[in-house]
Amino acid sequence: MSQQKLRLVLCMGKTCNARGDAEPLYTRLVERLGMPHDFRSKALIRWEIANCLNHCSSGPNIIIFPLWEHYAHVTPKKIDGIVDEFIAHSKTYTQED
Ligand code: FES
Repeated sequence: MSQQKLRLVLCMGKTCNARGDAEPLYTRLVERLGMPHDFRSKALIRWEIANCLNHCSSGPNIIIFPLWEHYAHVTPKKIDGIVDEFIAHSKTYTQED
């Protein structure tokens, strides 16, 4: 059994971020989780940004892979709860090859 890292992906695409709605989410994720795309990190958790997650009508969107857990209409008020859940998941998550 190997452990696969969870990835939180924030969409910064032109629909999700049409009015700058994803910008404060990005800022808060940096504060909570560090810089995105840090693939050298040995931490069990990491996060990325995407240009589209194919849920444009419900943005801003976050998806946690490989669980495919989708958070729609994410706001600055919701982001800390999502990060807390993500961290809790990452402590227990393992996936067999
Ligand atoms: S632009 Fe964000 S899901 Fe398409």
